[in-house]
Amino acid sequence: MTQLEDTAKAASNSPRRLYIKNYGCQMNVYDSARMAELLAPLGYSLTVTANDADLVILNTCHIREKAAEKVFSELGQLRRMKEAKARRGGRMILAVAGCVAQAEGAEIIERAPCVDVVVGPQSYHHLPELLARVLRADGAGAIDTSFPVEPKFDLLPKVASPRGVAAFLTIQEGCDKFCSFCVVPYTRGAEYSRPVAEVLAEARRLVRGGAREITLLGQNVNAYHGGGPDGREWRLGELIRQLAEVERLDRIRYTTSHPRDVDDELVAAHRDVPQLMPFLHLPVQSGSDRVLALMNRRHTVADYRRTVDRLRSARPDLALSTDLIVGYPGESCEDFQATMDLADEMRFAQAFSFKYSPRPGTPASSAAHQVPDEVKAQRLAELQVLLGSQQRAFNEACIGHTLPVLLEKPGRHKGQLVGRSPYLQSVHLAAPADRMGDIVPVLITAASANSLSGSLTGVAAE
Ligand code: 5AD
Ligand code: SF4
Repeated sequence: MTQLEDTAKAASNSPRRLYIKNYGCQMNVYDSARMAELLAPLGYSLTVTANDADLVILNTCHIREKAAEKVFSELGQLRRMKEAKARRGGRMILAVAGCVAQAEGAEIIERAPCVDVVVGPQSYHHLPELLARVLRADGAGAIDTSFPVEPKFDLLPKVASPRGVAAFLTIQEGCDKFCSFCVVPYTRGAEYSRPVAEVLAEARRLVRGGAREITLLGQNVNAYHGGGPDGREWRLGELIRQLAEVERLDRIRYTTSHPRDVDDELVAAHRDVPQLMPFLHLPVQSGSDRVLALMNRRHTVADYRRTVDRLRSARPDLALSTDLIVGYPGESCEDFQATMDLADEMRFAQAFSFKYSPRPGTPASSAAHQVPDEVKAQRLAELQVLLGSQQRAFNEACIGHTLPVLLEKPGRHKGQLVGRSPYLQSVHLAAPADRMGDIVPVLITAASANSLSGSLTGVAAE
């Protein structure tokens, strides 16, 4: 028996509490679920509070400065909990996972010595070994921010515990695009696509566990080029067609995409595959060609417009979501106005907008002509008024229509459930709890900026 199995066996006799706090993107949500699955055989079961947990994992995000700073303020609170537990004779292990772990490595333990484990997003399958090391060494921290040669997916358990009616499935990781503002190529590494058979097997397991909707995840998901069973590399469109054959998988989504990688096959999938939802997150970042070039986006506004036109001709009811950055170094008033104009033209159903945040190690962070924070804040406020009104208008246009809604979870009030429309809007309605997991027709009666409400109708949903 290996030492690891020893630790696991000893641990499985005494249940241990695991608390995972997730920050950032949906891929972190997926990674957190996989970490929980990985640690379950060691006796760890999930708890809803950090207080008194035996192991706390912060699954962190480094995309913007604010996201990274949150981690250190959380660690301050956790240190006090850890000390209180030690005074009661217990032990709390603190682990920092995700992109802050990858970017800052050993510096995390220097800045927050209460941290026991630092593990990057490509090496979290080593968590059991790292924990065993910490338990043995009694005090010494364990760090792993390597990009191991063995893909972690091969070494993670194949169990895939039930992850709800709407599940995430990572099919691609890393990015080779190197947009000049972005840390992802450094924290998540080079582009990697999981083989088709592995993706299909995981999708089937998720559906057996109750999933009716799967969102395929990747930092640059439409750059997917996984090895197919026929020895060829499959692109995302082909993979989606195959996934649509999985029985009881009613809804497919994918995120996040790059405009350059929208190929004809993907456009055709939007035309032909009814399970592929008519909602697409397609970040554009700026409406100015000059800024797009500085950002190393390798597409122009006209390219973006053409891509959207191709998609909308294939799927006329396609709703668009995007990401926009204001105050990129060198962004002039005219450049910003071009972003406002593009947003105005595109009528985004949803959009995420950010002030440019310099990330250490990225080319843009040392660029000349950084935009003052007050200017960024003012531009962001202006843009968000426009985007907010577009989102509200999109939601209000749904009033009076009947939409198929996948019922996902209990609502805030008794007798209520919350579901999602095809366009990813949250929909609140009165419905019996046993309808959870069903796709039901809902007549939309009210809309706010962020959600819809409605009532069940007798009409059959698609
Ligand atoms: N500053 C501001 N926003 C950023 N994003 C990525 N890096 C930065 C940065 N340094 C935004 C982009 C991306 C989204 C996930 O986060 O818009 O699409
Ligand atoms: Fe970052 Fe996306 Fe650009 Fe890749 S394509 S570098 S993940 S913004």
